[in-house]
Amino acid sequence: MPIFLSAMQPTGNLHLGNYLGAASNWVPMLDEYLCFIPIVDLHAITLPYKPAELRRNTYTCLAQYIACGLDPKKCWIFAQSHVIGHTELAWLLGCLTPVGQLQRMTQFKDKASKQSRAVNSGLLFYPVLMAADILLYNADIVPVGDDQKQHLELARDIAERFNSTYSPTFKIPKPHMSGAGSRLMSLQDPTSKMAKSDPNRRATIFLLDPPDVVRKKIMNAVTDTGHEVRAAEDKPAITNLLNILSASSGTPVDQLESNFVHGGYAEFKETVADAVIELLAPMQKRYGEIVEDRAYLEKVLRDGAEAA
Ligand code: TYM
Repeated sequence: MPIFLSAMQPTGNLHLGNYLGAASNWVPMLDEYLCFIPIVDLHAITLPYKPAELRRNTYTCLAQYIACGLDPKKCWIFAQSHVIGHTELAWLLGCLTPVGQLQRMTQFKDKASKQSRAVNSGLLFYPVLMAADILLYNADIVPVGDDQKQHLELARDIAERFNSTYSPTFKIPKPHMSGAGSRLMSLQDPTSKMAKSDPNRRATIFLLDPPDVVRKKIMNAVTDTGHEVRAAEDKPAITNLLNILSASSGTPVDQLESNFVHGGYAEFKETVADAVIELLAPMQKRYGEIVEDRAYLEKVLRDGAEAA
């Protein structure tokens, strides 16, 4: 079977972008690939963290993964730090990676600019560890949201450099982007991506947000001037809501535009809220059933790490 690898950081609760841009697209692939899905706790410590919180988040992230449909009977889910090969390979790959290339990474520049303290070297080295996550398994396919494209290109670059310097060792992984959900934007500022770390909690829909909170966040989302519901460069907020509705309901954006030719923003937002609430309900129910079952979650991580 070809090999699939993708990952998520256990930093707090997952959000709608993590689901629509990533996890929901992985589910149909589980039958076609041998799937490795690390919860990348070592990536998470590149930003300030509290150890007890990180441990807890690893389990809640795992429970959310499973609740999203990532059935541990069909894929190996594990904690990155439980498989020592990730950091070992990262060192070997780092010795082939020019510092300048890492300094040019958009996410490094973005995260470093938000740090008030001295920037740690882990943040710079982050994409090398990500390359190791991928190359360690000789992954054929790496499905990610749009924001990880540059990191993936770097991983391909490093693999090619290693292969041409030493011997043909690593497969060159193929990126795989999802459609409408691959870049969800903040509900409060549609020019920046939806993120777990956004200090404005109204900007991000979390997978565990109760229905009334989801509705409130969507009804309060910023909109664009005018009143037509259409995707366009000068309408970033409505485009984002159309993408959310399209990815949540499986209806193409152009069809949604024609459905709302006569409707205004308020009616449109109500429909977006209904679709997201309906999408999240089964996931939230399943999460509630498993999150307290520590023995089960520990077994999933243990089996996953062994297989990995
Ligand atoms: P992370 O934890 O930030 O995000 C996990 C996945 O969710 C996608 N994503 C989004 N998709 C659409 N809209 C958004 N607003 C949005 N925000 C996040 C991400 O693209 C990703 O697919 N560096 C990675 C983790 C990682 C990794 C890897 C991924 C480490 N090693 C190896 C793939 C392969 C990250 O921080 O993802």
